[in-house]
Amino acid sequence: MTNVTRTFVRGGKLNRAVDDVSLEIGAGKTLALLGPNGAGKTTLIKMIATLLEPSSGRIVVAGLDIKSNERQVRSNIGLVLGGDRGFYLRASVQENLNYFASLARVSRRRRPAVVAAVLDAVNLADRKRDAVETLSRGLRQRLHIARGLLSNPPLLLLDEPTIGLDPEAALALRDLVRSLKSGGHSILLTTHYLYEAEALADDVAVIIDGRIIARGAVTDIANAGGIGNVTVATLTHLPDTLGNSISQLAGVRNVNSEQVGGQRLVTVSWEPNRDNEPQLREVLATHAPLSVVTRPATLEEGYLALVARRRMTIG
Ligand SMILES: Nc1ncnc2c1ncn2[C@@H]1O[C@H](COP(=O)(O)OP(=O)(O)OP(=O)(O)O)[C@@H](O)[C@H]1O
Ligand SMILES: [Mg+2]
Repeated sequence: MTNVTRTFVRGGKLNRAVDDVSLEIGAGKTLALLGPNGAGKTTLIKMIATLLEPSSGRIVVAGLDIKSNERQVRSNIGLVLGGDRGFYLRASVQENLNYFASLARVSRRRRPAVVAAVLDAVNLADRKRDAVETLSRGLRQRLHIARGLLSNPPLLLLDEPTIGLDPEAALALRDLVRSLKSGGHSILLTTHYLYEAEALADDVAVIIDGRIIARGAVTDIANAGGIGNVTVATLTHLPDTLGNSISQLAGVRNVNSEQVGGQRLVTVSWEPNRDNEPQLREVLATHAPLSVVTRPATLEEGYLALVARRRMTIG
C-alpha cells in the first residue's frame, strides 16, 4: 500500500485513523502490526479487506488494485476479525462454514472436504453439529479463523487472532500460522501479545496515531526505542544506592528492579552496541549476585521503550 490515509469525522473534526501509510508484505512473509489501542490497526486491515474505503492512497493485493478489482481481491484474502459477531448463532458450526464457503465461491462439490479441512485445522471438528450460540468465546474465535481459511487465500489478515484463546489453543494457532506461512501464505497479523508477534513475524511494524513509526526486525524495533542488550541480575536484596550507581555506568539506558519470589531482579537496558557487562559485574560484585545474564532485548522491551520514547517527544 502506498500513501494510504483514512479519516473519520469525530466531534465535528477530521481524525486521521490511518495517516499516510506505505507498507509492503513480501510473498510468503509474516508482518506483525503492533500499536496501542486506537492506533489504526483494524482500520488498516479493513481497508485491505475492502470493507472500508481509503480516503486517499493506493492498495495493491497480488498485483491487483483493490479499487478496480474488488471481487477478485476479496477471493485472494482471508480475513479474521475477532469478536462475537459475524455468524448465524442458531445455525450449526458446519452450516455456517458451508454458507461462508459458498460466499467464498468454493464449489458445491469441494465444499464438504474444504469445510472438514478447516474444522480440522482449528480443532473444532467435534463441535461441528453444535449451534454457534453454544460455543464459548475462544471456540468462536477458532471458528473465525476457520472461516478465514475457507478460500485458501494467498493473503491472510489476522486481527488479534488469539484474543480470548486459552494457552493451549493459542499455541495451536501459532503452529497453524507457521504451517500456513510455510505453505506460502502471506500474513498480516495484529496482536497485543508481543511474544506472539516475536514468535511468528519475519518483520514488525509499529503504528501510533495512524503513522508507522518503526519497521524492521525485532532488533531494529528495540534499537529505534534506544535499547540493544538487556542484562538481568538476580540479587538476594536491593541495596539503596545500587540503582543509582548502575544508572551512572556508560551505556545504561534504563534500570528497573522487581521483587520476584524472595529475590530481587535488576534489569538493565543498554543503549544499542554499548553493553558494558564487565563493569556492571564490578558494581554488583560487593552484593554477591546470584546470577547475571545479558541477552538481546525482547520485542516487548523494545516496543515499550519505543512507545515511551515517542510519548516523551510528543508530550
Ligand atoms: N467507523 C468509525 N467511525 C469513527 N471513527 C472510527 C471508526 N473506526 C475507527 N475509528 C477511529 O479510528 C481510530 C483507529 O481505530 P482502530 O480500530 O483502527 O484502532 P486499533 O489500532 O485497531 O485499536 P485496538 O488495538 O483497540 O483494536 C480510533 O481513533 C477510532 O476511534
Ligand atoms: Mg483493532
